[in-house]
Amino acid sequence: MLFMRSSPMVIADVLISGLLLMEMTIVGLGFRFGGADGLRMDYYLMTCPFAEQIVKTTVNSALQEDPTLAAGLIRMHFHDCFIEGCDGSVLINSTKDNTAERDSPANLSLRGYEIIDDAKEEIEQQCPGVVSCADIVAMAARDAVFWAGGPVYDIPKGRKDGRRSRIEDTINLPAPTLNASQLIDMFGKRGFTAQEMVALSGAHTLGVARCSSFKQRLNDADPSMDASFAKTLSRTCSGGDNAEQPLDPTRTTFDNAYYWALQAKAGVLFSDQSLFTGPRTSGVVNGYAMNQAMFFFDFQRAMIKMGNLDVKEGSKGEVRSNCHRVN
Ligand code: HEM
Repeated sequence: MLFMRSSPMVIADVLISGLLLMEMTIVGLGFRFGGADGLRMDYYLMTCPFAEQIVKTTVNSALQEDPTLAAGLIRMHFHDCFIEGCDGSVLINSTKDNTAERDSPANLSLRGYEIIDDAKEEIEQQCPGVVSCADIVAMAARDAVFWAGGPVYDIPKGRKDGRRSRIEDTINLPAPTLNASQLIDMFGKRGFTAQEMVALSGAHTLGVARCSSFKQRLNDADPSMDASFAKTLSRTCSGGDNAEQPLDPTRTTFDNAYYWALQAKAGVLFSDQSLFTGPRTSGVVNGYAMNQAMFFFDFQRAMIKMGNLDVKEGSKGEVRSNCHRVN
């Protein structure tokens, strides 16, 4: 079966784990790693030293209650960063004059807002007006990855919150109908390589998709999909548009089973499966399927990079006192 690992890969795993450890040490010592100019690992050291700990404790206790929310937090960070940069714009509520990002169809199934609110509330009690909502989202995603069994990594902080959140901007989120070359283009425009895009897509090791996100694949026979898996998806869709299908066989565990599923033609989204059929991405899928340590290493690097997208610093943004409203 494709699901077996070969022993030379175990050796490679060990080597890469060593590299990972080395990098974590560098990050742990407080060096800036791929950070935007004003972001720093120790940004809140003097102004709100327990911010990281509060986020971690809040995330851990929420995920203890409901492990499926890890997926929600990671996806929330992605949807925040891809629209207007990582500036908490995804959290802003619509008003009578403005329909905000979160009410876009692409964001209606986002989950985990209450975890961000809980962390923010506690942080505001300790150090009012200091820690941005954008940083809380980024830290929460990082903690969710680790909680679910993924890599541990530190992130630079100091993002400011944005003041713009418009539904029309969400057109720039990738659709599940895109193929590998369209995804390469879209992520390339944000400075990501094809390999980084495949690594980030590995976030689909967690969570679910609703039938409405993949039902179009079931209309015509899709040769990239395993026939019995097509039946599984059809069965799910018999429960209606909102029926949920796990994106990989281990929906609450951060592992490389997502890539195994792609090799087995059991990717849920067309966009996911196209990574295995696409000539520029299939090799990366095979590499991550064989070597989980390599996936973890590339994933955490790509997440740090994503967390720096169009970050607002200084007076370009603010620290919202309520994550759902501009000040
Ligand atoms: C490569 C392009 C991507 C496309 C086309 C895409 C599309 C989607 C779609 C359609 C869903 C299901 C939504 C639903 O049916 O409710 C989903 C779920 C999810 N996405 Fe992506 N996504 C992409 C990349 C990413 C990235 C880069 C991340 C994070 C780093 C991410 C994290 C997630 C997670 C964790 C879920 C599960 C959410 C949950 O269970 O609540 N995705 N994605």
